[in-house]
Amino acid sequence: MAAAERIAAELGFDKSCLPEVGRLLSAAAASKPRGTIAESGTGAGVGAAWLHSGLGDGARLVTVERDAELVRRAAGIFADDDRVSVLQGDWRLLERYAPFDVFFCDGGGKRDDAERVVSLLAPGGLLVMDDFTPSAGWPPRFEGDVDELRLFYLTHPALVATEVLTTPVSSAVVATRRSRD
Ligand SMILES: C[S@@+](CC[C@H](N)C(=O)[O-])C[C@H]1O[C@@H](n2cnc3c(N)ncnc32)[C@H](O)[C@@H]1O
Repeated sequence: MAAAERIAAELGFDKSCLPEVGRLLSAAAASKPRGTIAESGTGAGVGAAWLHSGLGDGARLVTVERDAELVRRAAGIFADDDRVSVLQGDWRLLERYAPFDVFFCDGGGKRDDAERVVSLLAPGGLLVMDDFTPSAGWPPRFEGDVDELRLFYLTHPALVATEVLTTPVSSAVVATRRSRD
């Protein structure tokens, strides 16, 4: 985590996940000790480092980032661990590693192909998405309008989903893919 935070600071990258989200990621990864753990949007590697902190001996972590410099720097953090692959390119490169037991969808997919994101989950697989703004009441709203994206995930028939506060002003959607569709 310290190495990833240092890279983020050096590159002026300010989109890393919060520690509150990181602890959620670590717990999610640890829940699937032989699982395939995926992340779209490696950034500087902070989220990947949290996922890695919960990674079981029989698990693997694959993360993808389109920015070449971020990939180069983040890959260096995990160079000694052959359970980890840091890919460069579009998030769809992840598909060849599916189905995912944990998917931290944080850069690509979440907005542009939400149905595909759900389809990449293994039965019982966990989907985590952060950076939502907590909304009182139902349906969830963002800046006055119904948040259709959040609604999609929270009501998807293949998911059992909830929204959890990560700080008083931010939330995450956590969803489990049902074992039958
Ligand atoms: C919120 S940041 C990721 C932060 C990181 N997951 C963490 O928790 O520290 C989003 C990242 O996704 C990358 N990204 C955005 N769209 C992408 C796509 N279609 N394919 C791959 N990477 C993408 C961006 O370059 C950016 O670095």
